[in-house]
Amino acid sequence: MTANRAWTLASYPSGWVTEANFKLVESPAPSPKDGEVLVKNLWLSLDPYMRGRLSQQKSYVKGVEIGDVMTGETAGEVLESRHAGFKAGDKVTAPAGWQLYGCVKGELLTKVDSSRVPLSYFLGCLGMPGRTAYFGMTEIGQPKAGETVVVSAASGAVGSVVGQLAKAWGCRAVGIAGGRQKCDYVTKELGFDACVDYKAGNVYRDLKEACPKGIDVSFENVGGEIMDTVFRLMNFRSRMIVCGLVSEYNATEPYGVKNFRSILVNRIKVQGMIVFDWLERYPEGNKALLDLVVAGKIKYRESVLDGIESAPKGLVGLLKGENFGKQLIKLA
Ligand SMILES: NC(=O)c1ccc[n+]([C@@H]2O[C@H](COP(=O)([O-])OP(=O)(O)OC[C@H]3O[C@@H](n4cnc5c(N)ncnc54)[C@H](OP(=O)(O)O)[C@@H]3O)[C@@H](O)[C@H]2O)c1
Repeated sequence: MTANRAWTLASYPSGWVTEANFKLVESPAPSPKDGEVLVKNLWLSLDPYMRGRLSQQKSYVKGVEIGDVMTGETAGEVLESRHAGFKAGDKVTAPAGWQLYGCVKGELLTKVDSSRVPLSYFLGCLGMPGRTAYFGMTEIGQPKAGETVVVSAASGAVGSVVGQLAKAWGCRAVGIAGGRQKCDYVTKELGFDACVDYKAGNVYRDLKEACPKGIDVSFENVGGEIMDTVFRLMNFRSRMIVCGLVSEYNATEPYGVKNFRSILVNRIKVQGMIVFDWLERYPEGNKALLDLVVAGKIKYRESVLDGIESAPKGLVGLLKGENFGKQLIKLA
């Protein structure tokens, strides 16, 4: 019998999540019930939202219970199907969690075509992070050619796509990232016009220099002091997409925004977003992103750790900015 290995939640973190908050358990691989599909997970996606699931606080999705398999999206292959829409050998993405094998209801699976792009891309630039960038930009940011778009966590899964979309649409793309190496990648490899290293110590001065005409669209991924500084440079009738606040996910106290007044004075539209607000329109986003990736207009980088054992370490590292590109765990 095939053995499954799964990470379950052992305890809720208070403050920083640690590897000790998870427990690795072994059991026989599950068998699909009627309407379910057994998936062999080949790739596991690690995402900042997972920190929010390690809590019983009210959020847009319920948290993981103690003893449950940790939530997560995977890309893999169908081993056995009891759902008419899938057959053995199909490549899929699935909410199968931090484990080697998962039984998932057919309606929760997405069949993907990995003949032109690697399967793992469907967890990154062609998956949830890519769609977040696409719908945040098209629906909320709505940048026009010639405008300046600023995105934080610019070398990451969402941020790298945001800036490349901005460039493809004729905007000035400015990133904010941690460290020279990430900033050089953002400008030299991804083609952003500038990238501010927030660890270098003078974000306001450097961002002002990088945005001589101010900021028209801010794609906010980190929150805290960086977002507060961005507010100081936002233009009249500019837009801020509040996509993520990763700098605060492990904090015990929320950051108090000081430059809120800029919203009033500049009539800034500030809107939060959750990618599944556009669930019905995923096929449109998927196609637009695939066309850009295949045409070489979206470049993409992955940060890969090997083996299911690495998942907790990978999540802690991701929340500390140790990843350089989309964080994945290679399972097979
Ligand atoms: N609303 C939605 O539907 C949705 C969907 C997907 C993702 N998101 C959000 O989008 C953001 C980016 O997600 P992602 O998957 O693309 O992750 P990612 O950018 O690939 O990785 C996270 C990055 O956040 C940065 N970071 C971590 N701590 C930070 C801090 N204290 N200050 C500044 N930057 C910090 C690090 O980059 P540096 O080294 O450059 O600091 C790290 O590499 C997250 O906030 C996530 O929650 C939202």
